[in-house]
Amino acid sequence: MTNNHNFEKWSDTMFLKDLVTNPLIEVGEFSYYSGYYDSQEFENGCVRYLWGDPLTRAAFDPVKDMGWHLDKLIIGNYVCIAAGATILMGGNHNHHPDWITVYPFASHVEKSYEPKGDTVIKSDAWIGMNAMIMPGVTIGEGAVIAAGSMVVKDVPPYTIVGGNPARVIKQRFSTEEISMLLELRWFDWTKEQIEAAKDSLMSNNIDALYAHYKKYILN
Ligand SMILES: CC(C)(COP(=O)(O)OP(=O)(O)OC[C@H]1O[C@@H](n2cnc3c(N)ncnc32)[C@H](O)[C@@H]1OP(=O)(O)O)[C@@H](O)C(=O)NCCC(=O)NCCS
Repeated sequence: MTNNHNFEKWSDTMFLKDLVTNPLIEVGEFSYYSGYYDSQEFENGCVRYLWGDPLTRAAFDPVKDMGWHLDKLIIGNYVCIAAGATILMGGNHNHHPDWITVYPFASHVEKSYEPKGDTVIKSDAWIGMNAMIMPGVTIGEGAVIAAGSMVVKDVPPYTIVGGNPARVIKQRFSTEEISMLLELRWFDWTKEQIEAAKDSLMSNNIDALYAHYKKYILN
């Protein structure tokens, strides 16, 4: 049995670059979706309420037709997204908690959409199963979103958050080590540079990776 993207087994992953056609989604290198347990497509299922997937693109254009300014989804390099994760887009899409009615009268649809700002998932973040990312959130480099979390606020780099609403569980490394990681930014290196550093990358020896960076990447 396969789902929409032909994940045949739970261990299958697909690069987002090969899945995304929506002009409002930017994806970096090697970021992947592990979507076997999700019955829907990445850009029209994992990502929700974002105009620009093939079906909505063919049906209407809210930028041209209604003058809406739509938020974007921006995903960095080496991001891992587990099945069941939901990236909720659409700003305050037609429903205004600050208006008397939240009912979206079609006759006034032009003025109904309110952007929330781009949603940004930075490089090397890991989005756990069934997490929901609310519109306009930025998830920092190397952050971990625990399974089932409701992420309503920005997540600092190299920080684990969990729960509903998601709260900080812990920093993955010391503040000083996180500064080093944010300086060396391994996920922006070339494939060859990453290959040469894999022993350090796949360890918790940040000093060794930093020394490697100083010796081989900076020079
Ligand atoms: C977030 C996560 C990585 C933490 O793992 P860990 O570092 O081994 O953490 P622990 O199990 O020791 O738990 C640490 C704390 O986080 C809490 N926690 C763990 N998972 C949580 C979750 N999903 N939601 C809320 N809190 C969670 C624990 O209760 C514990 O709290 P405490 O310190 O108050 O006791 C892991 O729990 C998780 O959710 N992984 C995602 C798994 C997944 O989605 N896999 C899909 C395939 S890729």
